Amino acid sequence: MVQYAGLPILEDGKRLMRIVLLGAPGSGKGTQAALLEKKLGVPHISTGVLFRTAVSQKTPLGRKVKSFMDRGELVPDDLTLGLLEERMMQADAECGFILDGYPRNLAQAEALDSLLERLGRPVEEAIQIDVDPEQVVARIAKRAAEEGRSDDSEEVVRNRMRVYQEQTAPVADYYVEKGLLTRVLGTGAIDEVTQLILGVLEQGAAERSA
Ligand code: AP5
Ligand code: MG
Repeated sequence: MVQYAGLPILEDGKRLMRIVLLGAPGSGKGTQAALLEKKLGVPHISTGVLFRTAVSQKTPLGRKVKSFMDRGELVPDDLTLGLLEERMMQADAECGFILDGYPRNLAQAEALDSLLERLGRPVEEAIQIDVDPEQVVARIAKRAAEEGRSDDSEEVVRNRMRVYQEQTAPVADYYVEKGLLTRVLGTGAIDEVTQLILGVLEQGAAERSA
C-alpha cells in the first residue's frame, strides 16, 4: 500500500477510509459524504437514503418505516441494524465507507462496533459537522421549497432536531472516549467544509501511520 496526500491508497486507486459523519439534520452530512465519495472512492452509505428508497419502492421494509420517518422519529433499531448490516456486507464497502446518518443512538454505535470488529475493519475517524440550529433550519426550509422532501415540513423538522438532541448528540461522546472524534465547523461554503474534513482525514492517517 502506498500513501497519497497522507491517505493510504489501495492498488486499484481507492483510498482506504472508514469514516462516520455526525451532525444535526441539515448540517451537511449527505452533501459532504457525496463529495468525499468522489474524492476518496469509498461508498457513501446513508441509512436515510436507503430508507427513503425503500419507502418510494413500497417494499415491506419501506411500509414498516414510513410512519416513523413521516413523524421525524428514529426507525426502530432492529430494522435499522438489519439494513446497515446488509449494506456493509456488500463488496464495495470492503475498501471503506463514509457513514451518514448512522449511528444515531448509543445502541447503534455499539452495534456498529461489534459488526466492524467481526469484520476486522474498525471505524478510523468520526467527524462531527457543527452548524448553528438557526442555520440548519434555514437550509432545510430552502430544501423543502426546492425539493419537497416529505419530512422537511416545519413541524417534522422541529421533531427531528429534538430527537437529534436527545438521542444522537450523545453519540459524539462515545467517539470522544474512543479518541476518534474531531469537530469541524460546517457553516462555511460547501467546498470549504470539504477541505476542513479532508484536512482531518489526512492528519488522522498521518498519525495512524506514524
Ligand atoms: P436522514 O436522511 O439521515 O436525515 P437527517 O439526518 O435528519 O438530515 P438531513 O439529510 O436533512 O441533513 P444532512 O446533514 O444530510 O444535510 P444535507 O447535506 O442534506 O434521516 C431521515 C430519517 O430517516 C430520520 O428522521 C429517521 O426517521 C430515519 N433514519 C435515518 N437513519 C436512521 C438511523 N440510523 N436510525 C433510525 N432512523 C433513521 O444538507 C441540508 C441542506 O443544506 C441541503 O439542501 C444542502 O444543499 C444544504 N447545504 C449543505 N451544506 C451546506 C453549506 N455548507 N452551505 C449552505 N448550504 C448547505
Ligand atoms: Mg442527509
